[in-house]
Amino acid sequence: MCGIVGYIGSKNAYSILIKGLHRLEYRGYDSAGIALINSQNNLNIYKAKGRVSDLEEFSQGKDISGTIGIAHTRWATHGEPSHINAHPHYSQSENLALIHNGIIENYAILKESLKQKGYIFQSETDTEVLVQLIEYIKTINNTDISTAVQLALKQVIGAYSIAVIEKENPDLIIAARKSSPLVVGIGENEFFLASDASPIIEYTNKVIYLDDEEIAVIHRNEPLRIVNLNNVEKTPQITQLELSLNELEKGGYSHFMLKEIFEQPRTLRDCMSGRVNVDSNNVVLSGIIDNKEKFINARRIIILACGTSWHAGLIGEYLFEEFCRIPVEVEYSSEFRYRHPVINPDDVIIAISQSGETADTLAAIELAKQAGAFVYGICNVVGSSIPRNTDSGSYTHVGPEIGVASTKAFTAQVAVLVMMALNIAREKKTISEEQFLSVLSELSKIPSKIETILQQNNYIEDLSKIFTYAHNFIYLGRGYSYPVAIEGALKLKEISYIHAEGYPAAEMKHGPIALIDNEMPVVVIATNSTTYDKTISNIQEIKARNGRILAIVNKSDYKVKEMADYTIEIPDTEECLSPLLSIVPLQLLSYHIAVKKGRDVDMPRNLAKSVTVE
Ligand code: AGP
Ligand code: GLU
Repeated sequence: MCGIVGYIGSKNAYSILIKGLHRLEYRGYDSAGIALINSQNNLNIYKAKGRVSDLEEFSQGKDISGTIGIAHTRWATHGEPSHINAHPHYSQSENLALIHNGIIENYAILKESLKQKGYIFQSETDTEVLVQLIEYIKTINNTDISTAVQLALKQVIGAYSIAVIEKENPDLIIAARKSSPLVVGIGENEFFLASDASPIIEYTNKVIYLDDEEIAVIHRNEPLRIVNLNNVEKTPQITQLELSLNELEKGGYSHFMLKEIFEQPRTLRDCMSGRVNVDSNNVVLSGIIDNKEKFINARRIIILACGTSWHAGLIGEYLFEEFCRIPVEVEYSSEFRYRHPVINPDDVIIAISQSGETADTLAAIELAKQAGAFVYGICNVVGSSIPRNTDSGSYTHVGPEIGVASTKAFTAQVAVLVMMALNIAREKKTISEEQFLSVLSELSKIPSKIETILQQNNYIEDLSKIFTYAHNFIYLGRGYSYPVAIEGALKLKEISYIHAEGYPAAEMKHGPIALIDNEMPVVVIATNSTTYDKTISNIQEIKARNGRILAIVNKSDYKVKEMADYTIEIPDTEECLSPLLSIVPLQLLSYHIAVKKGRDVDMPRNLAKSVTVE
């Protein structure tokens, strides 16, 4: 959600900042802006509602010189997306410019008190309050900018990552963060600043991830200083990035989403590499082995996540209960954190997040930690906040996921949950050797089975043409296929804007069946399972009401094929692994329908890739 980029060095800042904003576009935004200090110490701000390309157009013919600057893509929280509300924001004297990601929760009270002191506000944002506050503190205390930022942030309640520059001080950027990500890149006599490493990687692989309430004092031609809000000096911890530039490009695909769907055989191999060993018949996750007792003695597992990661969590519930015999609750992080949950010290919390920055999940983790529970993270973005705030965890290792609709991260989250369940179940002796070996052997075959599904891409694209007319969709599944149904429905609605609902198939008769008519497409995941025959009865119920059925079936199926209007075949596998296969055609179906409807597949309206506000 929102992007921050900064640069100070000897190169032209504008082009680096604009390129950086483009790299961060996937995070979701509604307006963009840039501030530059030129060689005459003028502080120029340019902003535009809409895309980064609109900002580029707006800046044409204007003074875009300068070797220091900050830039921003905004995802509006306070005030509509508009030119005035876009960042950077000037302070009253126009000496300071500030960009901000997050929410200043006590902005109203701070704004009122600044108004009484004569400050006039141009925008409706909470952010403008912060830049005015910094200027006010700097003026009354006659202090330098970094002290003013420090003192101002002490008064702020909320979440922020910020960058500030000062007209009279063209050799300095001050940056700070709390509950919102910020990375500093260290180049040769130059520094970069960004919300994640993607704008930095083409210049340097040396980065520092700021921690909460840390302030980076980034001075041209001087070593980087990091202090906390109490001015205690911190030693900067340099991390080497393993990201490559190729991973951030589309590589010949028309969209990142399509590229990421097609990457799944490889990403799952990467995810399992060094963990699944078919020759020695073993699965080892170091995070599980290091904390074996916690999992063996867990009275309960609570899975916390949002969106697609929550759907992966639901599959985790089925896995842990079936194989490990541990009761599981799967919670939306946002609900969990505000409902006085009962958390026991022998509960194990598993937090799942692709970005590792989801504000609600981070806050829920904090709550669980305070209650003394052990917290395990399943994340994709290395070095992000959740892995840094959990006791242990497993990375999904799928590389950057740029498309807003999560695809390869989902399948890897499920694969990690399968590996965890197998690992724990074997340690706990709650799985028979025969079943363990059979699931393990099938798991290792999943990547090549996905390859065969991807070969049907053209067929699925043709099928998608039939469904572009629809305004509503229903997705049904039972058991392990129920989370797939709701994930399939989410994929469709977020990128095609077609209304779609996922239900456990048997719930149909308790209400949704009233929606069925000959215009309603019903996607049924009807793969081999213990409830296969029950699903067939549910299909009959839909047929009896003239619903149009698209079924996901196994190759060996013959019963559903006879009943459904359209089918997509997937290879046979163990029931517990079926989501790893059945979700793939649903990802492709959503993608092609959205493309046919002319939607912005990688950056759907109103959505952000990394939801850093609650
Ligand atoms: C996925 O397609 C969605 N865009 C969204 O639901 C996402 O899964 C959710 O915001 C959670 O994000 P996280 O995994 O980064 O925590
Ligand atoms: N709360 C700020 C605003 O509405 C920042 C939003 C963002 O993170 O982009 O302007």
